[in-house]
Amino acid sequence: MNALFLESGSFWFTPPGTEFAEEVHFLFHFITWVSAFFFFGIVIAGTWFVIKYRRRDGVDAQPSSSHNTTLEIVWSVFPTILLVAMFYLGFETYMDMRTPPPGTYDIQVTGQKWSWTFQYPDGTITNELHAPKGRDVRLVMQSTDVIHSFFIPDFAVKQDVVPGRYTYLWFNSTAVGEHIVFCAEYCGTAHSTMRSICVIDEQADFDAWLEEAANFVDRMDPVEAGRRVYEIYGCAQCHTVDGTPATAPSFKGSWTWGSERPIESGTVVVDENYVRESILDPKAKVARGFEPVMPTFQGQVNDKKIGAFIAYLKSLNEGGE
Ligand code: CUA
Repeated sequence: MNALFLESGSFWFTPPGTEFAEEVHFLFHFITWVSAFFFFGIVIAGTWFVIKYRRRDGVDAQPSSSHNTTLEIVWSVFPTILLVAMFYLGFETYMDMRTPPPGTYDIQVTGQKWSWTFQYPDGTITNELHAPKGRDVRLVMQSTDVIHSFFIPDFAVKQDVVPGRYTYLWFNSTAVGEHIVFCAEYCGTAHSTMRSICVIDEQADFDAWLEEAANFVDRMDPVEAGRRVYEIYGCAQCHTVDGTPATAPSFKGSWTWGSERPIESGTVVVDENYVRESILDPKAKVARGFEPVMPTFQGQVNDKKIGAFIAYLKSLNEGGE
């Protein structure tokens, strides 16, 4: 729509990654400059009149002329045209954003304190959004806990993600590369870390990526696969892997196999079953001194992934401490 801002972004915006973004940026600049023009025009004229027509010794304040039909028509019609143009452009883009074309490529998005997961039509789950270049992509979004908001600034798309209902967002991007994803609705302690990226790939690269993402547990060393599980499911939001305490026990140092861990109602032995239970039913045995804030991953991780994660957790605690 407006080639001026297409290549480089602008003072206010990152380079647009979609037509939506080009339209939104154009409209933003249009409204800003129209507003600036009238603001300065009116303030400067007003100040000038106050000085020029002020009352001073020997000169009374001068009344304004009572009527000027031409002037009044101009200052009514001209702003009306501008306002209608602003409304029309905004409404047109808004309707485009709200109306996905038929035949979209659908990706399921889940917002959960404090990470995003993406599920593709073949069932593959990842924590990065990948999408093919030039394809109409629709996100079908839900939240398992509180209200989040899915925001890709480069694409100028943002949509609340609400528990108990689906919300939708669609885009078509030709900007191959990485685009940051934010949560734009305050959702608790780690809201500011609830980020992801959206990678736009050529179709062939996208297909290769999806194939790899679908089968990584079968193809990787278990410890490496477990590390990947840790990254994909957003465990890092709360569990460090270097022993540093955070909002949840670090995965390094306190998970020596067979050791006893204090919980609210006594102790529990650290073993495969405890780890598995803590992933699927995190509130069952919360480590003493921590809040029961972890959501369940029931239905999101299969036994293969849990097995890989256990291998990773063991590798972090080898030697015992
Ligand atoms: Cu999720 Cu803020």
